[in-house]
Amino acid sequence: MARNGKVAVVGAGFYGSTTALRLAEYDIFEEVVITDIIEGKPEGIALDMNQSRPIEGFETKVTGQTTGLAGEGYEVLSGSDIVVITAGLPRKPGMSRMDLIETNAKIVRQVSENVAKHAPNAVVIVVSNPLDEMTALTQIATEFPKNRVLGQAGMLDTARFSYFVAEKLGVPVGAVKTLTLGSHGDTMVPVPSKCTVEVGGTPKPLTELLAPADVDALVDRTRNGGAEVVALLKTGSAYYAPSAAAAQMARAVAEDSGAVMPVCAWVDGEYGIEGVYLGVLAELGRGGVRKVVETALTDSELASLKEAAAAVRAKQADVQNL
Ligand code: LAC
Repeated sequence: MARNGKVAVVGAGFYGSTTALRLAEYDIFEEVVITDIIEGKPEGIALDMNQSRPIEGFETKVTGQTTGLAGEGYEVLSGSDIVVITAGLPRKPGMSRMDLIETNAKIVRQVSENVAKHAPNAVVIVVSNPLDEMTALTQIATEFPKNRVLGQAGMLDTARFSYFVAEKLGVPVGAVKTLTLGSHGDTMVPVPSKCTVEVGGTPKPLTELLAPADVDALVDRTRNGGAEVVALLKTGSAYYAPSAAAAQMARAVAEDSGAVMPVCAWVDGEYGIEGVYLGVLAELGRGGVRKVVETALTDSELASLKEAAAAVRAKQADVQNL
């Protein structure tokens, strides 16, 4: 089997380390790099993951590297085709993602500058919160073309929505297709008109299978999906579903697959929305976002998407100065 390329994950917390492991287990990369500012942690995680290779049967080599606040160690990113930025603090119970903006902006800016220096050709996938704002900040700090910087949110929110629908209807998760657009936060926009459930091999609109109040309840649970996990865990936030989402995005880029996924991408004209990083469907390939894919929305879904864009645009303007 041919293995190609190098992918780096910045941040060896639960989100970063599970993402690195998923990427390594795909067994499609030559090398997966994981970094962290905690001395020895990324090296230890890499050693442990490498020792799992004979059991799990993957040859992708995992490299761990401690980095310093003055940029020490970031040379390890050199030659990376893709960098996933997970650095930053997770939420504590009761916190909104937006409460993290000032702290995480400093961290993400510093990481982004080092990514730009050592991996100037990489596609960057951001997962740090608040997601839409940190994605915008990464683009500003790296000065990379906007199509080469994208954020992970829609894949996760969509997965949560699909899982809740499957659980409610007692059907396999694979039978459910859902869509969420907008922000990874309060202005998340579920798109019930694009949600289907396969019944006897035929996709049926979700709205035919569940009453509007039930759909609304699942939408609400999706919007609060991250907070529900945070409240249960008490320390840290979700990472199994988030890492699955980030890793699949990286895979689509690595394989130049053209997969269409809900991601946080630069929107400039699509849906009549200009100049903002927002959750939309996008076609992914080696260069990052090949194009934003517009899908037909109902009037109220489109209105909600425009509201989300306005809210997110205002916040993204703030991050320039953080
Ligand atoms: C969540 C965090 C990772 O939604 O944003 O779980």
